[in-house]
Amino acid sequence: PTVVVLNGPNLNLLGEREPEIYGHDTLADVEALCRKAASLAGLSVDFRQSNHEGELIDAIHERRHDAAGFVVNAGAYSHTSVALRDALAAVSAPIFEVHLSNTFAREEFRHHSYLSAVSTGVIVGCGPSGYAYAIARISELVHPKP
Ligand code: DQA
Repeated sequence: PTVVVLNGPNLNLLGEREPEIYGHDTLADVEALCRKAASLAGLSVDFRQSNHEGELIDAIHERRHDAAGFVVNAGAYSHTSVALRDALAAVSAPIFEVHLSNTFAREEFRHHSYLSAVSTGVIVGCGPSGYAYAIARISELVHPKP
């Protein structure tokens, strides 16, 4: 089973971009953490980043029938994109929305996400660990304890 991890705009700049908010880990570090968390759980990872809304939507369509779950940090598109929300609404696998920062402790325009209501769960303010927590939860849902 494969967990699809989708990263939206500007997350390619992680480590350089506003490190006081997002920390010093790069997206490659986040990817390595996801691979570690997934391998512990017997899952593989399809890790992607795009600065383009349509590419994120295409990735959801592409993996929508075979992904064990989705971990989605859509960056600013979380706060703007009905199209991304609609794409996720067509997915039946579990979806975890993740934000590195605590979006509720920041500007008002980050308090609402179009993705939360179509997600299984939401993890904010835990830095890169949030991705690992989401993968651990997908593993619990995929391999339920007897
Ligand atoms: C973010 C929070 C968003 O508000 C912001 O636009 C990002 C990153 C986070 O991971 O904290 O690009 O999704």
